[in-house]
Amino acid sequence: MNSDIDRTTEGAIGDTIADGQAAATGLRPARELGPAQFRRIVELARLAPSVHNTQPWWWQVSGTSLELWADRERGLPVSDPLGRNLVISCGAALHHTAVAAEAVGARAQIEYLPKGADSDLMARIDLVPHHPSVEALARLTMLGQRHTDRRRFTSWPVPDESVAHLAEEGRRWGASVLAVTDRALRVEIEDLLEEARRRQQGDPRISDETEAWIDHDVADGVPSATVPRFDGARGERPTRFDSSLIADTTESVVRGTDGLLVVSTPDDGPLSWLHAGASLSALWLLATGHGLSVVPLSQAVEVERTRLALERLLPAPSRVPQILARVGWQEIGRGDLPRSPRRPVDELLRGLSRPA
Ligand SMILES: Cc1cc2nc3c(=O)[nH]c(=O)nc-3n(C[C@H](O)[C@H](O)[C@H](O)COP(=O)(O)O)c2cc1C
Repeated sequence: MNSDIDRTTEGAIGDTIADGQAAATGLRPARELGPAQFRRIVELARLAPSVHNTQPWWWQVSGTSLELWADRERGLPVSDPLGRNLVISCGAALHHTAVAAEAVGARAQIEYLPKGADSDLMARIDLVPHHPSVEALARLTMLGQRHTDRRRFTSWPVPDESVAHLAEEGRRWGASVLAVTDRALRVEIEDLLEEARRRQQGDPRISDETEAWIDHDVADGVPSATVPRFDGARGERPTRFDSSLIADTTESVVRGTDGLLVVSTPDDGPLSWLHAGASLSALWLLATGHGLSVVPLSQAVEVERTRLALERLLPAPSRVPQILARVGWQEIGRGDLPRSPRRPVDELLRGLSRPA
């Protein structure tokens, strides 16, 4: 995250928690939300993860609601022609909006795709004043800490029960989430992940698109400092984004100690994609709270051959894979990675006059 965001957003998280703790005593009635609260919610929700940190979203204030809109101009036409990852990213932003709203002092009532599946209006989030709970404030802390750390995990095993617990949390947001604890299934899925990575690595159009989003801008894209091993100066092409998470052989991955989750849905379309993104976001915040690192993996879904092969491996009725995630422990005491940047709130929030 750039230093400007560090200062203001970390301050916003601290202030929101302090306000929330005061409100949670119940001595103060829950307040109607005003411009400052809408702004605060968007400031926090924009920390959501997105494919290549494209941040393909914006919010509109409408009465007592916030509308979340997809920004198709921020799409990835080569790797994501349907906009699946774009809408999954919006689903993560939707979950982040709800988490932020609940910490700021409103219960979020979500209407998905209020203008239908062809509209860019992803959701209307009605904000009903409500005292923040202790859990809501804890989730906000996780929202502030969550980030993608692609460095190699330690060899500490992630217990199957922890992976199952994350899957359960993810399911609360509408998608199916499979904790891949069966070893034979894991071998098959790891093979498909590796095949997808190799296929994309061999496709210059994909590599060019990925490369264009590394250090794309001060406010978006993936900072090269967060991408282990990539060395543009030597003219290397980045993989997405690094090969160090992919072990040398499938066997060593399976003997490895990280966990794997598959987020899937019964069908393929914007509503399913929103659910998948919200589910990913929910399990990611819980993982952050447990000290676990999460790395989303979308290549095996982007490549048609591996997506169809994955579909045949998943249990009915939720056979359509949307995104996978690897979970593991990062080394304690390893230096923090720089945070990826975010677009300014003024660019993302419409329908609200700037505070004087
Ligand atoms: C839909 C989606 C797909 C993603 N796919 C990948 C991926 O295949 N590999 C990867 O390393 N990160 C992936 N990410 C993580 C993003 O690159 C990351 O969220 C973004 O750069 C912002 O950084 P942050 O998570 O640290 O805030 C994905 C994220 C989303 C929401």
